[in-house]
Amino acid sequence: MNADDLKKQAAEAALEYVKGGIIGVGTGSTVNHFIDYLAGVKGKIEGTVSSSEASSERLKSHGIPVLDLNAAGELDIYIDGADESDHYLNLIKGGGGALTREKIIAGASKKFICIADESKLVDVLGSFPLPVEVIPMARSHVARQLVKMGGTPIWRENFVTDNGNAILDVHNLEIMKPREMENAINAIAGVVTTGIFAMRGADVLILGTEQGAKTVVPK
Ligand code: A5P
Repeated sequence: MNADDLKKQAAEAALEYVKGGIIGVGTGSTVNHFIDYLAGVKGKIEGTVSSSEASSERLKSHGIPVLDLNAAGELDIYIDGADESDHYLNLIKGGGGALTREKIIAGASKKFICIADESKLVDVLGSFPLPVEVIPMARSHVARQLVKMGGTPIWRENFVTDNGNAILDVHNLEIMKPREMENAINAIAGVVTTGIFAMRGADVLILGTEQGAKTVVPK
C-alpha cells in the first residue's frame, strides 16, 4: 500500500468516533479523506467546526455545515492529522500552515483523535521541520531567538496563513522536552503559536499500517 492508502485507512477508521453533534475537523491530505468519508454519514451530525479555509470549502462542497467555534461551544471530538507523533502523542503539526486554528480547536475539544499513516510515528520529534506562525513584522526577531535555541529557521516564502501571518520552518531541532519547548517558543514576542502540540496532544492516534488501522494511546 502507498502512503495515501494508509492515510485513507486511518481516516475511515476515525468514523467510529463520529456519534453526532458538532465535530472539529482539521486540515491536510489525511483529513481530506476523512471529510470525504464523513460525507457518507453527514446525516448523523449537526455540523462541523473547521481549522482552515481549505477544509471549510471541502466540507461545504459535500453539503456539510461549517459553524463558527464561538457559536458551537465545547466540542466532543476533534479529528486531525499530524506531521509527526511521538509515543506519548505529542505532535508536530502545521505542515499545511493551519497550526493556530488547529491548536484552538484541539483545545476546545474533549477528545482529539489524530489520524496518520504509520511513517508519522517517531521516537523523538524534530526530524520534520517545526512550523512556527509569526506576526510578519516579528519574523526576523523570532528567527534570531530560534537560532539561540539551536534551530535553523527558514521562512516559508510566498505563503500567508489564513490569519494573515508568516511561517518559519525550524530545522535541526531535537525536541527532547516537547512541553518545555512549546512553552519557550510560545513565550517569544511575535510568535502566534508553535506547531508543537504537547500541552494539548492527541488522546488517540489512529495509524494506517500494512496490517490494518492500529489505535495507539499515549504511553
Ligand atoms: C496542517 O497544518 C497540518 O497540521 C496537518 O495536520 C499535517 O500537516 C498533516 O498533513 P497530512 O495529513 O497531509 O500529512
